[in-house]
Amino acid sequence: MIPSDVKATLSFSDGSPSMELPIYKGTIGPDVVDIRKLYAQTGRFTYDPGFLSTAACQSNITYIDGDKGELLYRGYPIEQLATNCDFLETCYLLLYGELPNPQQKGDFVKLVTRHTMVNEQMQFFLRGFRRDAHPMAVMTGLVGALSAFYHDSTDINNPQHREISAIRLIAKMPTLVAMAYKYGVGQPYIYPKNDLSYSANFMRMMFATPCEEYEPNDVLVRAIDRIFILHADHEQNASTSTVRLCGSSGTNPFAAIAAGVACLWGPAHGGANEAALNMLEDVQRMGGVEKIGEFIKQVKDKNSGIKLMGFGHRVYKNYDPRAKLMRETCHEVLDALGKTNDPILKLAMELEKIALEDEYFVARKLYPNVDFYSGIVQRAIGIPVSLFTAIFALARTVGWIAQLNEMIGDPEYKIGRPRQLYNGAAKRDVKPIGQRA
Ligand code: SDX
Repeated sequence: MIPSDVKATLSFSDGSPSMELPIYKGTIGPDVVDIRKLYAQTGRFTYDPGFLSTAACQSNITYIDGDKGELLYRGYPIEQLATNCDFLETCYLLLYGELPNPQQKGDFVKLVTRHTMVNEQMQFFLRGFRRDAHPMAVMTGLVGALSAFYHDSTDINNPQHREISAIRLIAKMPTLVAMAYKYGVGQPYIYPKNDLSYSANFMRMMFATPCEEYEPNDVLVRAIDRIFILHADHEQNASTSTVRLCGSSGTNPFAAIAAGVACLWGPAHGGANEAALNMLEDVQRMGGVEKIGEFIKQVKDKNSGIKLMGFGHRVYKNYDPRAKLMRETCHEVLDALGKTNDPILKLAMELEKIALEDEYFVARKLYPNVDFYSGIVQRAIGIPVSLFTAIFALARTVGWIAQLNEMIGDPEYKIGRPRQLYNGAAKRDVKPIGQRA
């Protein structure tokens, strides 16, 4: 952090002493006002539910410029990474800070590949679930359960443990997601195959059966790999903040990542891709493009409780750069599959066009986010809607781990413990039950 020569002075109209608050600058992006001494010196807290104006940490990993619609992983624009790299290169970059050279990439791929199997006991966790359990319920359980198998890498303060648990989580998430899917459709689990790429392996574990050879489709493998890249990290979003707060207690990495999975499930966050596709299918059932006007009217009516899922973002007040790339992938995949007339894509494009011209959305700076098109691509690839958020969790695991490890590696980190503005009852005495009204 670079101290700014600008200072902030906080003064109070009740004559209590004012205080100076240091300001720090980052490499790029907004400066921060350091309020760490505020409570000790003034007996007052700041108040920021939803953390709209709060930087909870300093980080070197991901930078978002919401006004420009810019996303950088370790300084590299997402557009360049999605075009020139694959997901494991992106994982290496997020974990270690630099893109790998050929030797480093080869070693990293080999290391991850060698950890793709899960303990055979893991399959017995699945048997406890109903076949129609939501995959995110299954994933929350399975990821947390991993800590039961790896006692040799649960000490978050041990750098070697952090390293091996990072590799294990990145390597095993595709296996676990595919197992959750196979369990739901009643098919046998498919073991990982070490001679396949990370994303080809995932597609095979998802769609192969023991009855015949499975040949991964290169276009679909590239599409799922790009989906992983676009979802890999995103600064201090809700699930990443959950992982940081959970990990700050010193719990093991698997438990902290399981907390991230649970948070990501929500429809306001990672669950939006599933909700966005369900929304498009609902409008399609209502009558498709002709009914968009009626649907938009419902969205604008606060009492309807209906939101345009896949639109809006706490940070992006411009087009989410990932949504642009996802829309491109949509066209590539649907063209490759000969589904260029996919009615849901047409509906999505029309809905986007209308929303981008409508004052309600323009005034609120509501643009498509990563979740608006990702569901259409995943559906075209053959991934069931209920698995979309599990795929998001698979991809975001590397970001969660990189952020968790960055926090634990920071000598200044403490357990997170926010305070509150208390509006409850003042102190009072308990009356014996016979004297209560
Ligand atoms: C992700 O944080 C991240 O980085 C998340 C993520 C990541 O990679 O980790 O990018 C992934 O979660 C993307 C977001 C996916 N969620 C959705 O698509 C769900 C739909 N979007 C909304 O729920 C909403 O836009 C949020 C939750 C994403 C952001 O909400 P904010 O920043 O708290 O904004 P807000 O709710 O205060 O909305 C401001 C105004 C309100 O209207 P007014 O009260 O001012 O009249 O915009 C309206 C909202 O009602 N609004 C919407 C809307 N989103 C906001 N109205 C209709 N449809 C929407 N989608």
